[in-house]
Amino acid sequence: MSKSLYRAELASFKPYVQGKPIEAVQREYGLTRIEKLASNENQYGPSPKALEAIQAELSGLNFYPESYPPELVQAMADYLGAGADQITLGNGGEGIIWQISMAFLNAGDEIIVSDPTFDVYKISAALLGGVTVKVPLKDRHYDIDGILGKLSPRTKLVYLCTPNNPTGHIATKPEIDRLLSRLPDDVILVLDEAYYEFAAASPEYPADSIALLKTRPNIIVLRSFSKIYGLAGLRFGYALSSPEIAVRLGMVRQTFAVNRLAHAAARGALEDTEYRDRVVKENSAALKRLNEYFDANGWACFPSYANFVFVDTGLDSRDVFEELQKRGVIVRPGHLWGWDTWLRVSTGTEEQMRFFTEKMDEVISALT
Ligand SMILES: Cc1ncc(COP(=O)(O)O)c(C=O)c1O
Repeated sequence: MSKSLYRAELASFKPYVQGKPIEAVQREYGLTRIEKLASNENQYGPSPKALEAIQAELSGLNFYPESYPPELVQAMADYLGAGADQITLGNGGEGIIWQISMAFLNAGDEIIVSDPTFDVYKISAALLGGVTVKVPLKDRHYDIDGILGKLSPRTKLVYLCTPNNPTGHIATKPEIDRLLSRLPDDVILVLDEAYYEFAAASPEYPADSIALLKTRPNIIVLRSFSKIYGLAGLRFGYALSSPEIAVRLGMVRQTFAVNRLAHAAARGALEDTEYRDRVVKENSAALKRLNEYFDANGWACFPSYANFVFVDTGLDSRDVFEELQKRGVIVRPGHLWGWDTWLRVSTGTEEQMRFFTEKMDEVISALT
């Protein structure tokens, strides 16, 4: 009798599709200039202080990292105004999401996500037999009543991504308050703030998620060093939670999930106030440029609080994606989320934004 060798969930499993890498497009089209505006990466280069710290750490690479380097964790706790025992370090924010799924989900348990949102919540739950319940956005905002209406005895996690990927919109304070006021204590609200620092400067952003943790034990806040510190290639993310949850998240983590260079870089980056401020400023300027260009074309967009804009060109996103790619610009087509005429375009330098708008003009002429 033959047995099924692989995990049952793999039969219908759909892994994450990454934004097309520059090298792949280079090979395919033989282009000399390619701008990748597809994965919400920081286009301003990594934090210089992180780079210095990495250099200093290189000669220690023959040793395993410390699982929780106390100086780093304490520096983060001081910076964030939280306790060191509330912090979980992860192999990127994505690593944290996998840890959350592993720590909370049994087969058949449910997670509630909005639609569209970051796919990894669903993917990591699916591997464990978790069921994802999707609640579409309503009038381009989170449908809080819709989310509450989907709560069931099997609900373990509710994800709110703010700013949301791919739309860039945020959950407002009244929305979060309303959700929390009716959320049972045995359901965890995960606030994914991977793009937090870009949004925090906006007066509309409810930048008090860490304060919320002091009032409610059933919240996890997730953040990342990939975006704001330009360290996507290194993989460093973290969660803030109650100490009790942090212990469980730590239990399911690979022992050396976060490497030595990432630890060193994180310490350097945290001190890089100048770089952080510059990135936020450059990003605002790039958002303004993109929005002006989209407005001039009469295309609707979500107001973005992150480092990308979700825009409706009215054309098939697959065609626009292909035509842009042929000309050396990689974006993320909206059909991946079922938004067939939308594109997600990451911000970049003034020069990159100019290149993008020039190529976009050519594509529109070619397609209309
Ligand atoms: C909403 C959201 N959360 C988490 C992540 C994971 O980021 P990382 O694993 O690079 O920290 C991303 C990455 O794009 C994201 O968009």
